Amino acid sequence: MIKLSVCIGTTCHLRGSREIIEQLQELIHANGLKEKVDMSGKFCLGRCEENGVSVSVDGENFALTPDNTQAFFEKEILGRV
Ligand code: FES
Repeated sequence: MIKLSVCIGTTCHLRGSREIIEQLQELIHANGLKEKVDMSGKFCLGRCEENGVSVSVDGENFALTPDNTQAFFEKEILGRV
């Protein structure tokens, strides 16, 4: 199971975390990965200074925007299943 955490703290919310979560949910569904990806929201991952929404995949950190979420998914999620 891949552990995917998306920050929904205030700073990341303002940067579009809701939109990113929606995109990720759709991508997980479209790729049939509901049983393989465990996505959860977290209140502030402690990396507010980064230039994007804080996301972690199995403990590895990323900063996402709505524009790069699909590319992130293809590389970091599809690349791990
Ligand atoms: S609010 Fe997202 S890292 Fe702090």
